[in-house]
Amino acid sequence: MEHERIVIRRGPRSGLTIIIAVHSTARGPALGGCRIKPYPDWRDGLEDALRLSAAMTAKCADAGLDHGGGKTVVVGTPSVAALHDVGDLIEELGGRYATGPDVGTGPADMEQIATRTRHVFCRPSASGDSSPATAAGVMAALDVLGGTSFAVMGLGHVGADVAGRLLRAGHRVVVSDVDESKRSLLPAATWVAPDEILAADVDVLVPAALGGVLTPATVERLRCRAVAGPANNQLDRPETAALLAARGIVWAPDHIVSAGGVIYATEVELHGATPAAAMARVEGIGATLRRHLDRL
Ligand code: PHE
Repeated sequence: MEHERIVIRRGPRSGLTIIIAVHSTARGPALGGCRIKPYPDWRDGLEDALRLSAAMTAKCADAGLDHGGGKTVVVGTPSVAALHDVGDLIEELGGRYATGPDVGTGPADMEQIATRTRHVFCRPSASGDSSPATAAGVMAALDVLGGTSFAVMGLGHVGADVAGRLLRAGHRVVVSDVDESKRSLLPAATWVAPDEILAADVDVLVPAALGGVLTPATVERLRCRAVAGPANNQLDRPETAALLAARGIVWAPDHIVSAGGVIYATEVELHGATPAAAMARVEGIGATLRRHLDRL
């Protein structure tokens, strides 16, 4: 087993399966968001928690943070009961792991978790929404890659923010989302169907939704020269990175590109940084990516 500790519990209040995977505390307390999602089976949630927590270890290490990686997965739909169950379980870990927002949770939910434990980031009364910092980190990464046309896959908080910033910078932007109603969000962007965006003829593809979008089959269809986005776990398997390289496509690892949120939250909440100073530290993602690409 690669993980230090995996806790699985049926929440006494919610009845939902709650999984906390602590991948590593070698560099310091594990950090990673709380994902709430109706997986078909709790074992699928466990699978996700294992992969996502390992990615958090890499994320914190490459970002130079004194933290390891962890992740919470709740199998089901969000509720106050579930958040309190999560808070109790985190508290039992005694500071080995702290959480933050992720898919299916936001800053207000962190306030609920905080009623049970202090090991939680991004409460509105603390550093708040980390999405703008994550988006700023993505922009710093995209700056390194250059390009004038971008395809943003997924218009959630971070994806929509990134697409808007790219448009304001004068770039050509193609967007898609599984939710048609997002279409009106960015009228200046070109909307395409979700299954078409992978093959968009752009400089850079920006995955900002689900993980696992890069597979042998999808890599075949790409027409971009680089892939860089905040979606976690973009490769279906590590070997897919070699397929991208063979096609001459630069891949910016998601754990580097998506580190803006954790960098910002820890700078503000643990190191007393001002929002501006924390944002400056987020910009360092550009230098981190450049170093990584130079090593290839
Ligand atoms: N979802 C965030 C991530 O994957 C988790 C997080 C953000 C944790 C901010 C702590 C603070 O990086």
